[in-house]
Amino acid sequence: MRYRGARHLPEWLEQGAAVLRDNRKDDLTDTFQTINKPICIEVGCGRGGFIRQMAKLWPDMMFIGIDKVPAVIAKAAATSVEQGLTNVLFIIGDIEDIAPKLDKHRVQQIFLNFSDPWPKARHANRRLTAHKKLDIYAHLLSEDGVLEQKTDNQVFFEWSVESIADAGWSLVRVERGFSAMDIEADDAGAGRMEANGTGTVGMISSQFVQTEYEQKFRAQGIPIHYLCARPPKA
Ligand SMILES: C[S@@+](CC[C@H](N)C(=O)[O-])C[C@H]1O[C@@H](n2cnc3c(N)ncnc32)[C@H](O)[C@@H]1O
Repeated sequence: MRYRGARHLPEWLEQGAAVLRDNRKDDLTDTFQTINKPICIEVGCGRGGFIRQMAKLWPDMMFIGIDKVPAVIAKAAATSVEQGLTNVLFIIGDIEDIAPKLDKHRVQQIFLNFSDPWPKARHANRRLTAHKKLDIYAHLLSEDGVLEQKTDNQVFFEWSVESIADAGWSLVRVERGFSAMDIEADDAGAGRMEANGTGTVGMISSQFVQTEYEQKFRAQGIPIHYLCARPPKA
């Protein structure tokens, strides 16, 4: 994908450096070891709007955005530094190459938001809900960890539901055409306190935050589908 702002890449790399790593150049094992908060990952974070909003709502968590396209994710990092966010990290690379560098069962939540549907049957293995990818997520997720997916593409969604069930995961929730549930940072805090009396991570969910793609689709009246699933017990 050619990103319109690619000519700004050098300046974004510099501006975003504090929260940006490149899988081909940096020692990620070292980076991951310095993280002392529970980790959530968005695979295919694009321009990072979702990661930034989640990081503001849940400051006690570390939100990691992964994307293969350098210019897109460098911009995400530069904007995050500009906004003073410290509980975010952006990694340039493919999830398949990055996952082996993370300790297993360390991730609380994995988000797939508006992933490429790869409609041709011969590209099915590239879909982020293909069995090979699900195995990677199962390796990363903690015992109570979950995978959440949102998409506008119903064919891809139904394929994902089937793929996830076939791989032995439990579908906790499957909702076709779910309503947006935006919350403000303060409301989120109050909500979490009410939910479990501790203010901890109980209510973290991608349902509360709209991504760049989601905003565009919702504005056009396109239904958005959501699922939440748990990996098979290790
Ligand atoms: C359609 S965009 C969605 C962006 C964002 N999540 C949103 O909802 O606005 C999908 C992104 O996933 C990235 N992507 C696809 N496969 C990937 C992989 N295997 N590893 C990392 N990123 C990937 C693409 O580069 C692209 O930026």
